[in-house]
Amino acid sequence: MTIPQRPEADPARRAAVLTGLGTFLPPRAVSNEELSEHLDTSDEWIRTRTGIRRRYWADPGTATGDLAVEAGARALKSAGVTGADAVVLATTTPDHPCPATAPWVAARLELGPVAAYDVAAVCAGFVYALASATGLILSGVAERVLVIGAETYSGILDPTDRNTAVIFGDGAGAVVLEAGRADAPGALLGFDLGSDGSQADLIAVPGGGSRQRSGGNPPDPATSWFTMQGKKVFARAVAAMGGSSAAVLERVGWPRESVDRLVGHQANVRILHAVADRLGIDRERAVVNLDRVGNTSAASIPLALADAVADGGLRTGERVLLTAFGGGLAWGSAALVWPDVQPC
Ligand code: UT7
Repeated sequence: MTIPQRPEADPARRAAVLTGLGTFLPPRAVSNEELSEHLDTSDEWIRTRTGIRRRYWADPGTATGDLAVEAGARALKSAGVTGADAVVLATTTPDHPCPATAPWVAARLELGPVAAYDVAAVCAGFVYALASATGLILSGVAERVLVIGAETYSGILDPTDRNTAVIFGDGAGAVVLEAGRADAPGALLGFDLGSDGSQADLIAVPGGGSRQRSGGNPPDPATSWFTMQGKKVFARAVAAMGGSSAAVLERVGWPRESVDRLVGHQANVRILHAVADRLGIDRERAVVNLDRVGNTSAASIPLALADAVADGGLRTGERVLLTAFGGGLAWGSAALVWPDVQPC
């Protein structure tokens, strides 16, 4: 689905504008070498097949909501504000199956009785949450929205499965969106969202939901781990992020060569380069931070944005293309001009 927007029609039209960025990683870094001690893998395999060197895993007692609160507070600080009208939280690993994690996060941040809900679009969750929050602003429901991507994948990874245990990490990233003008730096200029549920089994936690309960079988702990058919996902990720990126560029009227920074979901450096190649964008323009944090699913795009700003790889006024893909299958892309925002 492509959300119709015509930014060129009226630069003064109402828009959702990014005004703050915050991130949080749990303190425990897990190296490839550490994983190689108890898994049949190696630093060399992980680095060359994925680009990942380390990831962070939350300590026992730390849940997704805890990481989300930290990142959310930092994003508000970055924006120089203390409140928001709504919290939209993208996560695959909510604190509970019920209720959503976002209201608890809003309460911990002392935001008052604001709208708060979770978005479940796995690794595409942050772009879906951005689009949802933009809708709240464009419809006049909210003036300021805190959008968070937060994950604790360490709790759903099968520690004996080398296909997944070496890939995913924990973390959280958040942005503040505020009502403003479409010609302001930071305005979200357009979105493209899509899904293919016929391939839902490629990335899944098979158990724990109504599908399993409807079969009348007792809960089976073995079905509660995250599973991924990596090779099949790889090809679909490149095709979907490439197609979705092209769609959003067309929508906002940006030639491909005008994109300064491609900020893709940090799944695999080979995927990021393949998407850049497909779009005809120099590989050097693809932001890469998965070497430092692994694949953090819904948290990956804000974590990549913050690292890119911090290391000088993303500067005010640059054209940024966001694109993400993951379980669902679901994917999404967005375009904005980077504002004068310093991450906290
Ligand atoms: O974030 C949501 C979206 N997710 C993605 O986009 C992930 C997309 N997929 C990928 O990034 C890659 O497919 C993986 C990194 C998951 C796997 O890389 P691959 O190059 O596709 O490897 P493969 O699954 O084809 O496996 C190649 C070989 C196999 O051995 P054989 O059958 O050739 O003997 C695997 O058993 O590598 C083996 N292997 C490993 N070896 C050492 C798989 N995982 C490991 C491992 N260490 N951790």
